[in-house]
Amino acid sequence: MQLWNKGFEPDKLIEKFTVGKDQELDLRLAKYDVQGSMAHIKMLESIGLLTKEELDILLPALEEIAQSIEKGDFKIDEGVEDVHSQIEFMLTNKLGDIGKKIHSGRSRNDQVLVDLKLFFRDEIKKIAEACDKLFVRLQNLSEEHKDKLMPGYTHLQIAMPSSFGLWFGAYAESLTDDLQILLAAYKIANQNPLGSAAGYGSSFPLDREMTTNLLHFDNPHYNVVAAQMSRGKTEKAVAAAIAAIASTLGHLAMDVCMWMCGNFGFVSFPDELTTGSSIMPHKKNPDVFEIMRGKCNRLQSIQNEIALLTANLPLGYNRDLQLLKDIIFPATSELIECLEMADFMLEHIRVKSDILDDKLYDYIFTVEDVNRLANQGMPFRDAYKKVGMEVQNKTYKPTREVHHTHLGSVGNLATSQIAAKKNSILSQFK
Ligand code: ARG
Repeated sequence: MQLWNKGFEPDKLIEKFTVGKDQELDLRLAKYDVQGSMAHIKMLESIGLLTKEELDILLPALEEIAQSIEKGDFKIDEGVEDVHSQIEFMLTNKLGDIGKKIHSGRSRNDQVLVDLKLFFRDEIKKIAEACDKLFVRLQNLSEEHKDKLMPGYTHLQIAMPSSFGLWFGAYAESLTDDLQILLAAYKIANQNPLGSAAGYGSSFPLDREMTTNLLHFDNPHYNVVAAQMSRGKTEKAVAAAIAAIASTLGHLAMDVCMWMCGNFGFVSFPDELTTGSSIMPHKKNPDVFEIMRGKCNRLQSIQNEIALLTANLPLGYNRDLQLLKDIIFPATSELIECLEMADFMLEHIRVKSDILDDKLYDYIFTVEDVNRLANQGMPFRDAYKKVGMEVQNKTYKPTREVHHTHLGSVGNLATSQIAAKKNSILSQFK
């Protein structure tokens, strides 16, 4: 049965094709659908479209549905299109005509939009929390291992001294840039589309400021057409933030895979966190980080999927928009899962000491020695040439001394400044 049923049953094949995965995916929207409806009916009462008595009957009935959602008992019945229809049918079955009144001045188009905005607001906050947890883990590791040097590479050739302090700390600071993008997505999501109805407003005198306050949005999405256009646009912003974080995390996963490789051996994990081979008895594989790298690469593709799905759609609601849920819903969960897994793995990471004592890394110190000579008064270009000739003649002997003191370098990680930067971004997610 459809909300829009006018006396004929749509073909079952058509129904199955158009409903798609909504019955499953909409369960994630159920709690927000109730919140949106509660705000909407309070507003309807305030403008005289519902009586106080009717509101007092509807609100507890919605509260009861909210509790069944919370308990996990709520489901969308066979033959019901989506969560919006299910909740309206439940109210109408229970309350008769009063249930039928709640949809005044509203369309499922702005109803699903408001559900999505509330959903994204919560998911974004969950992502921000997971990023914060990983950030703290990375900074703690950075401080713990700040004196352990490792080779820095350019062109994947040994280049200059780096350290585990720099390496862990780099990913922490990189996450703060991603959090900025996430904050932008949060600000775009945190605007109220309710009242845009089918996309062109309503002749009822809807109080959109009231629902904005009740649902704690920053502001209404004022122009009703712009509000409808935000479907797809909000998802794109969220996908860009997901892609930014996934890119950082995928990069970290790649480093770990490489540093775990026997040729490097810079980091390792307890046996039970590695995986084996069915034929090679010696293998301790980094499957966790490989799966993470793969998932993170895939998560970066959803921006394109969304861009293509929404490219050139005519203005106003189009059913194509429903498919956005298939793309973005699994992505938020998958990203959070990857962030939590990275945090779990890093809790157990073991880091190799004295890596640079190996002769393999002698040339890592050439710039240190050039700078030492320059500090003693030799012009930089002459010092460069002197050390360069020693390398060429194979007479170069590294001093193995590393003196980096400037801000953000091996000897001055700026941990607290980076944490302050992160905290100032996080404080803007209300
Ligand atoms: N399931 C639909 C969606 O996600 C709900 C809105 C339906 N609106 C409509 N005009 N058919 O987009």
